[in-house]
Amino acid sequence: MPSILITGVSTGIGRACAERFARDGWTVIGTVRDAAPFAATTWPGEVRLEEADLSIPGSGRALAARVLAAHGTPDVLLNNAGTLDFGPVEDEDPARAEEVFRVNVFEPIELVRALVPAMREAGGGTVANVTSVGGRLTFPFFTTYNATKHALEGYSEGLWHELALSGIRVKAIEPGFVETAIWGRSVRDRGPEPYRGSGPYGPAMASMARFEGSIANRTSAERAAEEIRAAILDPSDRLRYPVAAYAAALIRARRWLGELRVMRFFHRRWMGE
Ligand SMILES: NC(=O)c1ccc[n+]([C@@H]2O[C@H](COP(=O)([O-])OP(=O)(O)OC[C@H]3O[C@@H](n4cnc5c(N)ncnc54)[C@H](OP(=O)(O)O)[C@@H]3O)[C@@H](O)[C@H]2O)c1
Repeated sequence: MPSILITGVSTGIGRACAERFARDGWTVIGTVRDAAPFAATTWPGEVRLEEADLSIPGSGRALAARVLAAHGTPDVLLNNAGTLDFGPVEDEDPARAEEVFRVNVFEPIELVRALVPAMREAGGGTVANVTSVGGRLTFPFFTTYNATKHALEGYSEGLWHELALSGIRVKAIEPGFVETAIWGRSVRDRGPEPYRGSGPYGPAMASMARFEGSIANRTSAERAAEEIRAAILDPSDRLRYPVAAYAAALIRARRWLGELRVMRFFHRRWMGE
């Protein structure tokens, strides 16, 4: 049976993907930051845990070396782990911005670079990067997070060209709204009162928070995992896969109505103007 390396299987989409592929009989190598809390977890198949904190420089390369030595070359790499920050860029701690880029872009890149030679030697494979609908457009106050997803989108497109020479398929997975813990995880969001930014941002942030809170019918992580599995197993050379609620609709609206018109429409809605 094939094997898949999935980063960030502790919760959400990564966990649902780990369970889905394990149920199919795949060998899943899943990463968590700390394996201890998962010692008693029952998985629906073979899930081997590796520890990796991708906010640490060099962690991607170190993880790849451990995986190759202990589990062999994975058939699929699913770069799923991700972190977000919510708030005006003006207030953002530069160290946090760097961390968001490290977890979402730099270490996933290092994982790819470290695994590609082994995949080529094995005759091929698949690299799937979980980007976001926010890698095709940008939501205010998610600016840095969305910038990391745009980076991973562009990187995936370049990889698509380069890795085709080695028989390695590349997939950019673009989730819309999935019901997971990520929405409550923003560091600046924590605290007894909602964070509303400094300077002129308060009303606009409240408006954006209302918009985000009003999004109904989010896709479950399990449903998103089904769509991601279908994208990974798609033998075609298709690169981009909008998955889960609103992703395809938002991307289509932007293409058909024009970028600026859609930006102006949402600006009024999002910024409460
Ligand atoms: N949910 C959505 O609507 C949505 C939409 C678009 C894109 N996405 C993307 O989908 C992916 C999965 O997100 P999710 O929604 O499933 O959120 P989630 O439940 O918060 O899962 C994020 C995963 O990433 C891991 N992670 C975070 N920081 C890490 C670090 N420094 N080192 C290693 N692992 C780290 C988390 O591990 P810990 O438990 O240790 O923090 C967790 O396993 C992300 O790339 C996210 O950007 C999600």
